[in-house]
Amino acid sequence: MRHRNLVILTGAGISAESGVPTFRADDGLWLGHRIEDVATPGAFARDPSLVQDFYNRRRRQLAEVRPNAAHHALADLAARWEGDFLLVTQNVDDLHDRAHALTPPAPGFELIHMHGELLKAHCTRTGRVCDWPDDLEPQQPSPHHPLGLLRPHIVWFGEMPFMLERIDAAIAACDLFISIGTSGAVYPAAGFVQQARFAGARTVEINLEPTPGSRLFDQGVYGPATQMVPAFVNNLLAG
Ligand code: APR
Repeated sequence: MRHRNLVILTGAGISAESGVPTFRADDGLWLGHRIEDVATPGAFARDPSLVQDFYNRRRRQLAEVRPNAAHHALADLAARWEGDFLLVTQNVDDLHDRAHALTPPAPGFELIHMHGELLKAHCTRTGRVCDWPDDLEPQQPSPHHPLGLLRPHIVWFGEMPFMLERIDAAIAACDLFISIGTSGAVYPAAGFVQQARFAGARTVEINLEPTPGSRLFDQGVYGPATQMVPAFVNNLLAG
């Protein structure tokens, strides 16, 4: 059967070979920090310098990395897929965006950054989002409100991911769900595979190694994303 409605979820593993570090290292730290020190609203209230500095360093690092063969393979798929294709990424880097800018997608394609984007900021008072390619000061005044500050446009722990209704609707309508380079440790993204199964979709995991949720997938493809994703996409497009 040819699939029509596709949802792909990506995580840090797809950007790993571009040089963007993944999150969950064996030391239990999150890129060298405790999560509650850098990635929560409470951390920003307590120590805005530390939090802004953490994201400033990650934002600067984007200038040193490039999309890899896995990002480009998905951009190629998006250009050639004839049905609906929702690409949901948990990544806050812009590597998918850059790959799709080089290979413009077909009309049924949409990309959602459900955990936010490093290259954007939003106002703490109004929530208005703006492009922000540079460093943010600890108390960066917001252009949108006299009492507002700009903070990274990042979904912190304890906050609601973006566009969940749109994502849920796409998963409910999909017949193929593929999860690439994510450990499945963080909800709600970790629950998408179960939603897809409920919708009757075929489910595929592509990862360096099996994850704790591997048994929920109909098919597992294990190895580096830069090799596995292009090969999988070629097969998919060949029908
Ligand atoms: N190719 C394929 N998969 C890889 C590669 C690679 N080259 N390198 C690592 N992986 C896999 C790992 O095996 C692991 O399963 O990528 C996954 C990375 O897992 P995490 O570091 O937990 O990242 P992710 O799943 O994206 O985290 C989800 O948690 O910390 C929050 O908001 C943050 O968006 C993030 C979310």
